[in-house]
Amino acid sequence: MDGNGRWAKKRLLPRSAGHGSGMNRMIGLAEHAKEVGVKYLTVYALSTENLSRPEDELQKLYSLIIKYFKENVQKLIAKGACVKVIGDISLLPEKVQSAIKEGLALSPPSAPFTFILALAYGSRPEIIKAVNLAVERGELVTETNFNSLLYTSGIPDPDLIIRTGGELRLSNFLTYQAAYAELYFSDVLFPDFSDAEFDKAIEEYGSRIRRFGKI
Ligand code: FPP
Repeated sequence: MDGNGRWAKKRLLPRSAGHGSGMNRMIGLAEHAKEVGVKYLTVYALSTENLSRPEDELQKLYSLIIKYFKENVQKLIAKGACVKVIGDISLLPEKVQSAIKEGLALSPPSAPFTFILALAYGSRPEIIKAVNLAVERGELVTETNFNSLLYTSGIPDPDLIIRTGGELRLSNFLTYQAAYAELYFSDVLFPDFSDAEFDKAIEEYGSRIRRFGKI
């Protein structure tokens, strides 16, 4: 969901306004993805690295997360979606953790459409945590049991990763799970990433030939 800050700057608005617009776009895209038959949509909403942003920006992001889980998540769940969070939410303030837990308690355990919010998420901490869990259990890791130790346990690997805002990297997002994901980079800033832009990415994905290393 990259480009909120630049979107605001272009309009001489504070960065927080960009995050507000970004959150509205995220809500719209989740509904749209569900409508067009996507089964899992994960948004990278807050990375472990983002936690080092200035306090005033973090407070704005926290208040948006609280608002989402108190006011918006029910609407998606009422439309038949399952909502999950991946990441170490213990790194977030208590009131944010409580709002997330209360919101998630309303979700069914599974549904034809799952919306996953990556919050206080980073691939490296996720992998290190999984390895330490295996060490504690005295288990040798295999691809099967390792998957079950990740935050994404039970969630299939991503088929397509879309990054908005013109940057060409994964920035610690699902790097293990992305081994065979198709990557799509868009210059559009996230608040402007319309349903039509999303459809364009899906269409492009449809034209990719996926051989998974075979011929
Ligand atoms: C990236 O844009 C966006 C973020 C770091 C935060 C996105 C999170 C939200 C909008 C809150 C969403 C709410 C919920 C419920 C998850 P940037 O600030 O890095 O933009 P820039 O690259 O233009 O500076």
